[in-house]
Amino acid sequence: MPKNIYINKKIAPFNKTIQVTSDKSLSIRTVLLASQAVGTSKISNLLESEDVLNALKMIKKLGINYKKTKNFYEIFGFGLNSFNPRNNIVINAGNSGTLGRLILSLLIKTNKKIKLIGDKSLSKRDFSRVTKPLKLFGANIKSKKNFLPVSILGNEFIRPINYLENIGSAQVKTACCFAALHAPGSTFIKARKSRNHTELLFKYLNIPIKVKSNKNFDLIEIKGLHQYNAFNYSIPGDISSGAFFIVLTVLSKNSKIIIRNVNINESRIGLIKILKMMKCKINFKNKRIYKGEKTADIFVKSSKILKPINCPSNLNSSAIDELILCFLVAAKAEGVSTFKDLGELNKKESPRLNISIKLLRMMGIKVIRKGNNIKIYGKPKLDLKGNYHVKNFLKDHRIFMFSCVAALTLNGNWLIEDKESINTSFPKFLNILKSLGANINWKKEKILLL
Ligand code: S3P
Repeated sequence: MPKNIYINKKIAPFNKTIQVTSDKSLSIRTVLLASQAVGTSKISNLLESEDVLNALKMIKKLGINYKKTKNFYEIFGFGLNSFNPRNNIVINAGNSGTLGRLILSLLIKTNKKIKLIGDKSLSKRDFSRVTKPLKLFGANIKSKKNFLPVSILGNEFIRPINYLENIGSAQVKTACCFAALHAPGSTFIKARKSRNHTELLFKYLNIPIKVKSNKNFDLIEIKGLHQYNAFNYSIPGDISSGAFFIVLTVLSKNSKIIIRNVNINESRIGLIKILKMMKCKINFKNKRIYKGEKTADIFVKSSKILKPINCPSNLNSSAIDELILCFLVAAKAEGVSTFKDLGELNKKESPRLNISIKLLRMMGIKVIRKGNNIKIYGKPKLDLKGNYHVKNFLKDHRIFMFSCVAALTLNGNWLIEDKESINTSFPKFLNILKSLGANINWKKEKILLL
C-alpha cells in the first residue's frame, strides 16, 4: 500500500450529510471501565481504530475476555482488580497516550510485574505526569527518566490521596480517578478544568463521586472499593474527528455540511466557541442527552469573512486537539490572531506547536512566536501555488489530517506522507473526504511533478 498521498486540487463546493466515527476518549474509557465492572458490558459504536483496538488487546492480555458481535462488543468483567496476567508480561499502548496513562492506573493493585511499552511517538512522551500521583497511591513504578518502558508492580495496600492536577490534563485526572477506584476511603482531586467524560461515566455507573466546580478547577471526591455493575453504552461521534470537516467547510467556498450525532460535551467544544468568535456559521440542532453526555447534529456553512481572534487561553483545554485547526482558520482571517499558553501542544503525539508553526510558515503565513504564545498574520486571499511536502511529523494523525484540510482549501501541490497515521483515530477519514468530492491521489504520476 502506498504510504503517501498527493493533493493538487481544491475541493469543489459540497453540500453533504456525514457521520464521523465514534469518540476516542469515550471508547477507551468504556473499554477500560467495562474491564473492571461486574458482569458483561455491551458497547456499541465502539471506535474501531488502532488506539481502541490496542485497548481491547491489552485487557485481553491482562485476562479479561471480549467478543465482537454484529452490533456491539461484549466485555466480560469480573470486578475491580480482577486482572489476572502472567508475571512479567509486556503490554503495548501503541500510539495512545490516553491508553498508556490510563492502564497504569488500573494496575496499581495487580500483583504481577508488567512492562508497558509504546511506539516511537509514545516513547518520546513524559509519563511522570501520571506516575507521580500513582506512586502516591502506593504503586511500585520504575521507568528510565520518566519515559517508556515503564514497569509497574501493584501493591496490595493502596491508600487514597489528595492531589492537585494543575496541568489541565484529562489523562492525568482520569488516571487519578481510576486509581481512586482501588483505594479505601475518599480520594480528593483538585483538577484544572479538562474533558469530564470520566466523571460523567462514574455518575452513570453509580460509582460514589462528588464534583464541585469553580471557574478554573473541579474538586472531585471519589469513594473507592465500590464494585459497579456491567453496563450498556453506545458511543456518539467524535467532535475531534468532526473538527476536520467543520474547518474544511468553513474554508471552502459555497459549501455546507451536516455532521450527525456528535458528542458536544461542554468540555470538548472549544473549537466551536473559537470559530464562532471568528464569525463562522456553525449551529447545533437536535440536541440530546445520552447518559449524561450532550450530543447534537452539527450544521456548518462556508464563511466568506473570518474575523481574527485574541483567543482566551481558558478555551485551550476544551480545544486541545483542535487548536492546530484554529491556527489554519486564523491563517485566512482578516487580521492578526493571538493564541497563548500553548505549551501542552508540544506534549502530544508530535510536538504539534512546533510542527504546525513550521507548516503555516511553509504556506507563507507569518507567525511570530514568543515562548508558548503565537501571533498569526492572516491572509484572507491566501491561494497557494508552490509545492508542499509534509514529512517528519512522527506519524501524528492530527498533523496528517490538518495537512489534508490545508491542501484541499488553499491550493498548491501537496505530498503528504504517512497516510497510515489516520488509523490511530479515524481510519475512515480519507474515505469521507472522497465522498465529499475531494481529489486524493495515491500515485505521484497522476499529478503535476512535485
Ligand atoms: C484525552 C485527553 C487529552 C487529549 C487526548 C485525549 C483523553 O490529553 O489531547 O487526545 O481522552 O483524556 P491531555 O489530557 O493530556 O491534555
